[in-house]
Amino acid sequence: MKKRILTLRQAQGENSRKRILTGDRPTAGRFHLGNYAGKLKNTVKLQDAYETFVPLVDLHALTTHFDRTAELENNIKGLMLDYLSVGLDPKKVTFYIQSKAPEVLEVAYFLSTITPRSVIAKQPALKEKLDQGSQDTVALFYYPVLMAADILTFKADLVPVGKDQKAHVEFAKDIAQKFNGLFGNVFTIPEPLIGGEDKTLPGTDGQEKMGKSLNNAIFLSDSNAEVEKKVMNMYTDPTRIRATDPGHVERNPVFIYLDTFGLDNDKAQIAKYKELYRTGQVGDIEVKKYLAKILNSFLDPIRKKRAEYESQPELVEKILKEGTAKARAEAQKILEEVKKVMRLNYF
Ligand code: TRP
Repeated sequence: MKKRILTLRQAQGENSRKRILTGDRPTAGRFHLGNYAGKLKNTVKLQDAYETFVPLVDLHALTTHFDRTAELENNIKGLMLDYLSVGLDPKKVTFYIQSKAPEVLEVAYFLSTITPRSVIAKQPALKEKLDQGSQDTVALFYYPVLMAADILTFKADLVPVGKDQKAHVEFAKDIAQKFNGLFGNVFTIPEPLIGGEDKTLPGTDGQEKMGKSLNNAIFLSDSNAEVEKKVMNMYTDPTRIRATDPGHVERNPVFIYLDTFGLDNDKAQIAKYKELYRTGQVGDIEVKKYLAKILNSFLDPIRKKRAEYESQPELVEKILKEGTAKARAEAQKILEEVKKVMRLNYF
């Protein structure tokens, strides 16, 4: 299947370099360490090998923020700073605003015509959002169709996402297959790419997931002192009362963070602390201080880059404008292909 699509692209004289696409909603929050581990890290790593598209999905933001549209512009700027600060390189990445490539809406509509209502109704993310108090709007229901259109309109091969978004990418994959079967091979069949395999980075409070609004997140834009404070207050092993009690390393957020953010040359020290912790020979405070140091040295270059871009708002805007123009041209081209196979290019 894959092979045939590549051959088709080559036949059309297109670039056969594979593509990744992943986006985020410009809602109030900033990125936290969980977002980084779940997908940003993968995207940064792959930007050299893949042609990379990153939409700032304002239309998706409307599904929960339709009454807060005035905030979007600022949130878009914040999101761009987050992306650039972690090392997504504007020379390699096409950043664009979803609503400014409105062709995706047309593609979404075509996809919706072959999507069984029951498949969308079963999406776990929908139930989750409704449980969290989102209004039961048609746009919220339609969310996965629009997301599939984001992915398919750019013929993405790989979609780096956190574990919670995997079902949406699977839907995109199914609907691409269905469309191609009905009309011809226009769409590339995408695959999800989940960071840290199937593990999710826990919150500082020990909850399964770090969340923007859960008050258990360390943000990429947190200061040195904030990180230190959050780490010192972190949940560890509730069964351990004294430093001399044998402790648990598994499912202990402090050690999960150490494993996730320690560099290769920290590995020996981390292994040593695990051993000492298990045998009751080191206190939480010492390990936490070590973790704060590791996290702050991971975050320092990110903070520095953020500050550099923050002082050049015109540059950030230029990156976004140029990316949007490029993305739009691509979306227009692929929309034409879609209409052609659907026999909608009447004249
Ligand atoms: N639903 C994604 C999220 O909330 C955002 C998103 C929209 C997306 N379109 C996408 C992610 C396409 C990857 C690819 O995180």
